[in-house]
Amino acid sequence: MTPYEELAQIATEAADAVDNAATVAQLDGVEVDFLGRKGRLTGLLRLVGSLPAEEKPQFGQAVNVRKAELLERLGARKGGLAAAERTARLSADSVDVTLPGRNVWNGGPHPITRQMQAVKDALISMGYSFDEYPDIEHYHYNFEMLNYPPDHPAFDEQMSFYIDDTHLLRTQTTAFQAHVMEGRKPPIRQATIGKCYRYEAVDATHSHTFHQVDLLAVDEGLTLADLKGTFAQLTKMLFGDVTIRFRPDFFPFVEPGVEVAIQWGDGWLELGGAGMVHPNILESMGIDSERYTGFAWGLGIDRMPMAKYGIDDIRLFAENDVRFLRQF
Ligand code: FA5
Repeated sequence: MTPYEELAQIATEAADAVDNAATVAQLDGVEVDFLGRKGRLTGLLRLVGSLPAEEKPQFGQAVNVRKAELLERLGARKGGLAAAERTARLSADSVDVTLPGRNVWNGGPHPITRQMQAVKDALISMGYSFDEYPDIEHYHYNFEMLNYPPDHPAFDEQMSFYIDDTHLLRTQTTAFQAHVMEGRKPPIRQATIGKCYRYEAVDATHSHTFHQVDLLAVDEGLTLADLKGTFAQLTKMLFGDVTIRFRPDFFPFVEPGVEVAIQWGDGWLELGGAGMVHPNILESMGIDSERYTGFAWGLGIDRMPMAKYGIDDIRLFAENDVRFLRQF
């Protein structure tokens, strides 16, 4: 094969290699193979020495022409491949903004918080105002002002966590009554909702920390019928059409006193205590008990979602297990 034939053949192979390269990386390889320092076209220049003197310049020129052609071909192909690769990369990376977003569970109100909100909404819609009162109470407000006679067995039902001799964690939101009536004249329609604490044996339905909603209405002409109607309206808003039950009960701060319940499932769900505000309390707050009467209740909150959702252990509310909490 003459050097010219060899040049033509290598040039053809190089052109094919350029055309067949599928990636920029392969093209770079082709460039090295043919035009690199030890490349095949470059290598042809070594044949110049074996040629007669008059042919040397032409052959050298012919090789350089082929090299220039190949470089141009490489450049053109490289531009095309790089553009295609960029387009492919862009379309692979692209974000489809029309796809629905992935759902991230970012929490929500605790079931007790939801229940308290529902109770609050219902009572506010019935004209009651809500205020917050301290969790740490004076013995005076939690018991004395509520007409507890000294050493009365009613204390035993509400074993307390004492902070010191005169302060304790409130055992009942009823402690708010004297705060409300201090410096206020009837008509009063006030409520409060929050945590209560009792030092008692914890079981599936009793916790050391639980929640109550207390209500106090004082006005002219209020009777037990008003209490009943208000309770019926609240339970209707919370539970739908349910039968309510009042049974006699004793609390030092009411006369008469009742235990209030609703019919639920196969039995009765006891929600709390209620009654007509004891005249002793009205008088001690400077309210004329001949002119004014009042009714009050204290309902447990925790057992409401327990009944509604069939939760059989009150302790689940405080365990902070998201597998439990995320069901609500
Ligand atoms: C009272 O606490 C009275 N203050 C209610 C009251 C207010 C009566 C105003 C009259 C006028 P009692 O101790 O029964 O009453 O508690 C009321 C409700 O709180 C109970 O029915 C129950 O639902 C809830 N409760 C009481 N102790 C616990 C506890 N350890 N764990 C969970 N819920 C409780």
